[in-house]
Amino acid sequence: MFVSDGLGVNESGHLTVGGCDTVSLAKKYGTPYICYDEDMIRKNCREFVKSMEEDYDGNGLVCYASKAFSCLEMCRICKEEKMGLDVVSGGEIFTAVKAGFPSERICFHGNNKTDDELTMALDNNVGRIVVDNVEELKRLSTLASKTGKVAKIMLRIKPGIDAHTHSFIRTGQIDSKFGFALETGEAMAAVKLAVETDSIDLCGLHCHIGSQIFDIAPFELAAKVMIDFISEIKETVGYEIRELNLGGGFGIKYLESDTPKPFSEYMKRVSVVVKEEAEKKNVKLPFILIEPGRSVVGAEGVTVYTVGAVKHIPNIRTYVSVDGGMTDNPRYILYQSDYDVMCANKANEPKTEKVTVAGKCCESGDLIQENAPIQKVEAGDLLAVLSTGAYNYSMASNYNRIPRPIVVMAKDGDSRVIIRRETYEDITRNDV
Ligand code: LLP
Repeated sequence: MFVSDGLGVNESGHLTVGGCDTVSLAKKYGTPYICYDEDMIRKNCREFVKSMEEDYDGNGLVCYASKAFSCLEMCRICKEEKMGLDVVSGGEIFTAVKAGFPSERICFHGNNKTDDELTMALDNNVGRIVVDNVEELKRLSTLASKTGKVAKIMLRIKPGIDAHTHSFIRTGQIDSKFGFALETGEAMAAVKLAVETDSIDLCGLHCHIGSQIFDIAPFELAAKVMIDFISEIKETVGYEIRELNLGGGFGIKYLESDTPKPFSEYMKRVSVVVKEEAEKKNVKLPFILIEPGRSVVGAEGVTVYTVGAVKHIPNIRTYVSVDGGMTDNPRYILYQSDYDVMCANKANEPKTEKVTVAGKCCESGDLIQENAPIQKVEAGDLLAVLSTGAYNYSMASNYNRIPRPIVVMAKDGDSRVIIRRETYEDITRNDV
């Protein structure tokens, strides 16, 4: 019935997350709040890790893409679940290090890393730096030589695959700000340069074709293209690439009608391609990394708001305004993302209305969903938006000086705060 198995409805007709009554959570923590289901997050981590073990003999590492939702507690969970971590900024490195995350299991991404960020990665012995461009390669080499270190790097390759997803989150095609293109010879030139550059150890290649992808075929194709390139490097440069990072991008359920494939199916099919292609091309089986973000946390987070104004505009639509909006969920305004919405306090009632859920920002486009089926909704109801665990809190802002919501973790009917609600003091903290 729901987008995640962690959700349910209790005898009071209230939506539950991780066994916690969302109405009671609203009383305890106020609204808006985001609640995650810890067991479900851990279950997702375990499924990824298990698939890597069963389908690729454990010869790999599953790195949680922390951009989906980064905080100390998520880093601690990933550490306990024997995952790696994909980070993309100094702030994400800082969070991981502060949480005590083992730095050798961190992969550092980004198309424009600063010297400070690269230095931070070197100082903290980050396991792999995914180099995006030649200029970065040269700067990294200089920085590493200064400290007498050798930077273990991967090169980010655009495999030339156009995955069917929103254009803002598509990254594998030639027209992308990320990485080196294969078609133009740019990628091969970068490999040669990396092999010759001091203080650089080129361990592997990386690709990421996009996000919220349901089809497995583009992932299979990317794996084939990358192994072919590894073989071409062996033949033309005489250099053996040891690792292959295939990125993330696995789609999740936003609506009940969405049908993502189980992750194990992805891993099985991609492993077959990697093994067959490596054998055919006579290259050593690479150590594989994958970087799921959304699929670890997306469906396991729920945002709960209090309904304020309800405005019926005859023959036009009904606006239901909530006490959050694009500040905690900018995904509708950015990508017109679909979401299931419901009255958390009337979860057993049928959805008889269609409404537009609006935020409280001074901006007409500040909507969370249009034409959304929902129960009969009135001021004072609690409105839950499901599948808000990925790229919601992490992309939240303080527009209109609205504080970011509190984030809680639910497990077996108990809850705990993992990120405190921002206060007005927090918001003026850096004002001078
Ligand atoms: N690896 C790399 C190099 C990435 O750039 C990304 C996502 C991932 C892994 C994780 O992808 P995932 O498994 O989460 O799809 N803000 C957008 C999504 C941007 C994705 C950015 N990169 C959204 O809200 O849909």
